[in-house]
Amino acid sequence: MLNPPPEEYEDRPTSEASRLLMGGPVVLVTTTWRGKANVMPLAWHTPLSSKPPVIGIAVEQSRHTADMIRHAGEFALNFPKRPYLHHVQYLGALSGERIDKFDALQLATFAPTTITSPLIEGCAAWIECQVVDTFDIGDHVLFGGLVTAIHVDPRSYADGRWHLGADEEDRPLHFVGGNVYAALDRALEARVPRDFEAPERVLRERIEEELELSREARERREEQLGLLQREVERGNIVDVDALAAEIATGDDPPLDLSKGVILGG
Ligand SMILES: Cc1cc2nc3c(=O)[nH]c(=O)nc-3n(C[C@H](O)[C@H](O)[C@H](O)COP(=O)(O)O)c2cc1C
Repeated sequence: MLNPPPEEYEDRPTSEASRLLMGGPVVLVTTTWRGKANVMPLAWHTPLSSKPPVIGIAVEQSRHTADMIRHAGEFALNFPKRPYLHHVQYLGALSGERIDKFDALQLATFAPTTITSPLIEGCAAWIECQVVDTFDIGDHVLFGGLVTAIHVDPRSYADGRWHLGADEEDRPLHFVGGNVYAALDRALEARVPRDFEAPERVLRERIEEELELSREARERREEQLGLLQREVERGNIVDVDALAAEIATGDDPPLDLSKGVILGG
């Protein structure tokens, strides 16, 4: 039987599913086609395969970037740092169809190693990709990009993860929705179970402990009740308050005191 929904619970429009998935680092997608480069911020990205390494980006069909990637068959992801906050938002309001965004925002670029799309200076990391799959899904197109090279700024990314102790200026920007971004703040390290305390084993041991405890408690109670019974049969005085307290701590039904108990001290 399932429980009713929790009290703190409200329905939201299905269009907000993407909002709930927000929080990853925003990227600036760069492309180049026929000698012209373009850049757009993008939040809808996901790993798709680890062997080979393929990542996916969902670009709305109407974006100039979608056309360019279809033709170029490649793209780069640039992970902007904190100082790019306002640039990112601004780039999302301009289309490369009408304007050279690199020129407009004076973005400095450098050469990639495996593709031709330019990489943007001052970012926390860069991924170079070659398109291996294209799926049209609703109003977006999902480009599957085989990762051909990765570069990182070690001040932002170290030991295989974002460096949480990095200076504010070196942290990537995480998009939350609207014009709100966040920076990764502090690390919360989960306890890693050692081999011998694999969750199933811990659970089994806890249950066994509980059973052992309840068995002992039952035996103790039966012993006390036996003693009490004998006292009652002998017509001796019984401390009812102490007995009630004793019984209140047990799970079994209270002893029937109707016959022969002498009340009071
Ligand atoms: C933070 C942010 C995240 C965005 N994420 C996406 C996205 O995931 N997919 C998309 O198609 N557009 C996204 N956009 C919108 C495009 O960046 C925007 O429409 C841009 O102007 C398109 O440029 P283009 O026409 O030169 O390709 C995002 C915009 C911002 C500001």
